Amino acid sequence: MPYFLWTNDLVTGNRGIDSDHRSLTSAIDEVLAAAEAGEDARSIGEKIQHLSACALAHFERETTFLVKPDNDESIAHRKDHLRLSSEIDSLKLQIESGVQKNPAEVYDFLKTWLRTHIISFDLEMAKSFPVAPDKSLP
Ligand SMILES: [Fe+2]
Ligand SMILES: [Fe+2]
Repeated sequence: MPYFLWTNDLVTGNRGIDSDHRSLTSAIDEVLAAAEAGEDARSIGEKIQHLSACALAHFERETTFLVKPDNDESIAHRKDHLRLSSEIDSLKLQIESGVQKNPAEVYDFLKTWLRTHIISFDLEMAKSFPVAPDKSLP
């Protein structure tokens, strides 16, 4: 059963972006499953590294969708990608260095980590796409 509950309000209407976001939720689920199963720090760290790599690839792809890459919104969007990358790397370092986190804490962090960014930035970006968003689930 998935941990990260995907909901319709996260659909941007761009299939490439939505598919990437679904991949990120799967990578989050792998981290949470490992944490809940009590896997060791190295194993959880590897799953966070995978999430980090998926996120970086996604951020690079998504940046190519910015219609006006130099306007204030796009700059803020890219800056938030950097914040997300930094936060996920920090989580990995904390876990690998032995900081104890319970699965609920990791769940709250990762859920907010992705959901808030999609709602605050990606959905706004999608409004600038030429085709009206398809709000059905991908
Ligand atoms: Fe984004
Ligand atoms: Fe995104």
